[in-house]
Amino acid sequence: MHYQIDHPCVQHKLALIRDVETGHKKFRELATEITEFICYEALKNIDTREVDVQTPLEVAKCRKIDHDIVVVPVLRAGVGMLEGILELVPTARVGFVGLYRDEETKQPVAYYERFPPQARTGMSIIIDPMLATGGSTVAAIDQLKAFGAKDIMVICIVTCPEGLALVEQEHPEVPIYTAAIDDHLNENKYIVPGLGDAGDRLFGTSH
Ligand code: PRP
Ligand code: URA
Repeated sequence: MHYQIDHPCVQHKLALIRDVETGHKKFRELATEITEFICYEALKNIDTREVDVQTPLEVAKCRKIDHDIVVVPVLRAGVGMLEGILELVPTARVGFVGLYRDEETKQPVAYYERFPPQARTGMSIIIDPMLATGGSTVAAIDQLKAFGAKDIMVICIVTCPEGLALVEQEHPEVPIYTAAIDDHLNENKYIVPGLGDAGDRLFGTSH
């Protein structure tokens, strides 16, 4: 189950973040802004509870979010989306998955994991800008499920048909929200046209 956020404001920012001329400062700002928009849409159906709020005039029936939310950035590039999601859900807890893609095999290698216990009872949101082969996302979901998480969603910025197919085959109940579904993976398993290496562009490590 996947959803593409087609809103013009998201697509405009996507055009800017893809641009090879966009430097790491602007890239980080855009990653934050795009994440906020996607998250806004992804959370539109989460549970709320009714609360009474005393306004200056009288009591208003209001709604508050009734969910423990655990945001799980996949290190390293997922950190570039953390600020955006915390803008929207400032009370969220944060867990971490450390994964990198082996340059030869393109398979994810796990090197770190730390989740708050609320991941077992609340909703866990995996954030990683690139869902390419899908191997890293599948591994992150596997790790969360092994910890005891039951309610999981994925937010990325750019993906492709190959990656979506793998995640949907391995974890069909996990919804995926993205700003873009690109054409294909190249021979190095990079998304085309994509935006390049998200971690390098976020953190200025490419050149
Ligand atoms: C990137 C990206 C994903 C992964 C996607 O991380 O942030 O985690 O690759 O590829 P996949 O879908 O084929 O698994 P990378 O391995 O470059 O590590 P980094 O974030 O530390 O730069
Ligand atoms: N990781 C990235 O950062 N970009 C891709 O296109 C694929 C994997």
